Amino acid sequence: KRLVVLVSGSGTNLQALLDEIAARGADAYGAEIVAVGADRTGIVGLERAERAGLPTFVCRVKDHATREEWDRALAEATAAYEPDLVVSAGFMKIVGKEFLAHFGGRFVNTHPALLPSFPGAHGVRDALAYGAKVTGCTVHFVDDGVDTGPIIAQGVVEIRDEDDESALHERIKEVERTLLVDVVGRLARNGFSIEGRKVVTP
Ligand code: GRF
Repeated sequence: KRLVVLVSGSGTNLQALLDEIAARGADAYGAEIVAVGADRTGIVGLERAERAGLPTFVCRVKDHATREEWDRALAEATAAYEPDLVVSAGFMKIVGKEFLAHFGGRFVNTHPALLPSFPGAHGVRDALAYGAKVTGCTVHFVDDGVDTGPIIAQGVVEIRDEDDESALHERIKEVERTLLVDVVGRLARNGFSIEGRKVVTP
């Protein structure tokens, strides 16, 4: 299967996918990364892609007259690589109608909290501020809400008294990377169907 991965930051989730595919081989893993896209330049995520010899593309909101035009450009840039699955690995933008028209039902996101708790851009900070005792990460399909799509898998992380946002996020990301690599491989190898809110993998 062909994967396009979208990033906005350090790209450690992308790196985990790259490492697994390099270690196991794309055939055994079930998928290869065919391109990496970003919504900004100058990020480590893009450097990781280039180091791996992958094509990259950047689609910035500010280069487009409207958010809708940006969304259409992102959809077209992604579609050019003919992906079977698109993975948002720390991609910090909400996509619009056009992108979902192309990739709805095969667009996977990873979120650093146990959804439906603490959706949005500050899932780690919000769980900490709330005083939650456990949090974690959620790999889910993207729908037209913010972090509301069908859940594929979750991992749990305990919150420690001494945690600050960055320490907690680092522990979440360790679990998140393993979970994302596992989920994407399983979806790619086994196929899946989405029945309401339920994701069924054979
Ligand atoms: C992940 O925790 C992701 O869930 C969040 O941002 C982080 C991205 O990390 N939205 P990286 O860029 O993959 O290192």
